[in-house]
Amino acid sequence: MDRTLLDGLFKPKSIAVIGASAKPGKIGYTVVKNLLQDKFEGSIYPINPDGGEIQGLKCYPSILDVPGPVDAAAITIPAKIVAQALEECGKKGVKGLIVITSGFSEIGRNDLEEEIVQIAHKHKMCILGPNIVGLLSNSGKMNASFAPYLPLPGKGSLVSQSGALLIAIDAATYLRRIGFDKLISIGNMSDVDIADTIEWLNDDENTACITLYIEGLKDGRRFMEVSRKARKPILALKAGVSAHGAAAAASHTGSLAGAAKVYGAAFQQSGIVEVSDLDNLFDRSLALSLQPPMKGDNMLIITNGGGVGVLATDAAEKYGIPLKFAPSDVQVEMKTHMPDFGSAKNPVDLTGMAGCDWYHTTTKFSYAHPWVDGLVLLYCETSLTDPVDIAKSIEQGIKDSGVEGKPIIVSFIGGEKSLNGIRYLVEHGIPAYTAPDIAINAMAALREYARIKEILAEPAEALNGVDRQAAINTINQVRADGRNTLTEIEAKEVFAAYGLPITPTSLARTEEDALRIAREFGFPVVMKIVSPDILHKSDAGGVKVNIRSEEGVKEAYAAILKNAKAYKADAKIHGIAVQEMAPFGTEVILGSINDGTFGPTMMFGLGGIFVEVLKDVTFRVAPVSISQAKRMIGEIRGAPILSGVRGEKPRDRRALAETVSRYSMMIIDLANEISESDANPVLVYEEGRGIKVVDARIILKKK
Ligand code: ACO
Repeated sequence: MDRTLLDGLFKPKSIAVIGASAKPGKIGYTVVKNLLQDKFEGSIYPINPDGGEIQGLKCYPSILDVPGPVDAAAITIPAKIVAQALEECGKKGVKGLIVITSGFSEIGRNDLEEEIVQIAHKHKMCILGPNIVGLLSNSGKMNASFAPYLPLPGKGSLVSQSGALLIAIDAATYLRRIGFDKLISIGNMSDVDIADTIEWLNDDENTACITLYIEGLKDGRRFMEVSRKARKPILALKAGVSAHGAAAAASHTGSLAGAAKVYGAAFQQSGIVEVSDLDNLFDRSLALSLQPPMKGDNMLIITNGGGVGVLATDAAEKYGIPLKFAPSDVQVEMKTHMPDFGSAKNPVDLTGMAGCDWYHTTTKFSYAHPWVDGLVLLYCETSLTDPVDIAKSIEQGIKDSGVEGKPIIVSFIGGEKSLNGIRYLVEHGIPAYTAPDIAINAMAALREYARIKEILAEPAEALNGVDRQAAINTINQVRADGRNTLTEIEAKEVFAAYGLPITPTSLARTEEDALRIAREFGFPVVMKIVSPDILHKSDAGGVKVNIRSEEGVKEAYAAILKNAKAYKADAKIHGIAVQEMAPFGTEVILGSINDGTFGPTMMFGLGGIFVEVLKDVTFRVAPVSISQAKRMIGEIRGAPILSGVRGEKPRDRRALAETVSRYSMMIIDLANEISESDANPVLVYEEGRGIKVVDARIILKKK
């Protein structure tokens, strides 16, 4: 999106309010009142056909009557007359439109919405909304909204798809003393969407961290691309995490993919820190807007209370940054700032006797120490010290350390005086919270941000040995046959074209064929029905395993055909697949869906009961690099089964990771063709012995 339009929208020098009203209680009245109340420094032009004066400002019958230029226009007139007003805005040279009005696509009036977007584009304007509360900016002293006041000032900016939530957050910034620079209500996203906003905020000098409240994205891929490029931390709260699309899913993967899992994967792959609720959103955005990322795993905690130290230790483990003992030189130094009964390990317990001096010197020393990647200071309010003085000592300790670029987080546990200490720290750029676990969670966000950025920086490995045309030929044949579901043999052909290690399988149309193929492969073999009308082969009695003789092949051939006919008399039968019987290995499942928001998306998990009952699976938006695939393998609960438990040798995770990566490449490459697919089971052998895809399923997109 054109930057000058977004500048006009987010940093206007002049604003018209179309539908400005002299009647208190109306939205057109409130927007003018808010702009005046929060002292917008540019020009405010109320527009109303009645003209006259509104709240002491000259009111113009039309925007075309305004003498000077107008950068932005807030629209507060009913939906059916917005289009006409936008034509006039266009003629006036307005750049950004803040369309507060409801009654567009959110109630099915897509026609009205398309019309206003067309008008905006024709006149080179951009639209925020419609159906929004408006736009609030502390640095611009602009409250172009009907939210009651500008938020408490802060260094983060919030983009919200819910107007009501934005109003709630606005008020909560004062209660929680956690501010924002901009609050942007994004509404129906008819034109300016979340990705455009991220791009603009990324260059906004008043925004250090971008916080998103997301209900649903339109273009997930672009959102990921823009987020990945952002130089500032982004954190996101995703609402509506119930299973989506699961009901219509035809494959295993489809039924396991829910919005939460796919969005979670997309966030991780885009460098976005996810938050689970509103408390988390406030706490983590404060930390990310004030502090740098935590670049290593060494967190040092200093406390004046053993109990809160233990709570922080528990939280550290819970949030993925478990504590290590401090190195001996740190311990020796710490010992000099505590009584004999203190503890210098980690947490460093200065004891309740700790005063400002000890907080200052230990902060100064540990913040400068190269072992420390992140410093957490805890303080329980005592009558020996004033929390604000402790806050000042901590702040001074950081300054005196001569070091910059490491995160520090504080928690003061106590009453009103502690709150004053917290306020002092936040105002001086140090995130401070009321409980130790909240402080650790905030530090964990800084660690998480550093980790996901490191992962994003990893180069993707090139994979060769792909024959796309072979895959397309198979798919074309299936389509020519009037089908959308590939048989196992056809699906394996497509898999093989992308270098996936399938078990050799051939189609037998007669008993003689079956005998010949079995002799070629060598016994034992597996035989399976091949029918586009029988998806669940085992349920139909269409699978025989461990066939060890020619006699066995004949018996299986007859039995499978008989069972299939009994299962579905009119099933079209292509023949019987004869395949090598793969030796026993650890069962895993790979699969894909074509997610409505993010497109081809990959699933991995342990097979059998793990997938059926425990749903122990993980997702990534494709493509997935080999190193990312290794992470997928490591993050499922059953990961130790693959790394070798109880004396078992580790499984071939390298081969598995390559297969996951190849699979993801296949689903991206064939995104226009494949709707869903599964490789299930895939057998994983001992390290160095590779893996085998034993069964395959592909469902094509309808064309
Ligand atoms: N140019 C300028 N002003 C005009 C024009 C025009 N072309 N045509 C009419 N007006 C004036 C009207 O005369 C009226 O002025 P008045 O108060 O002096 O009589 C004023 O504009 C407003 O028009 P009304 O017809 O009175 O409309 P009303 O104020 O009742 O409603 C509104 C307009 C607020 C935009 C309404 O249609 C609407 O969409 N409300 C919902 C807004 C909303 O909730 N947004 C989503 C927020 S997200 C959340 O859920 C919190």
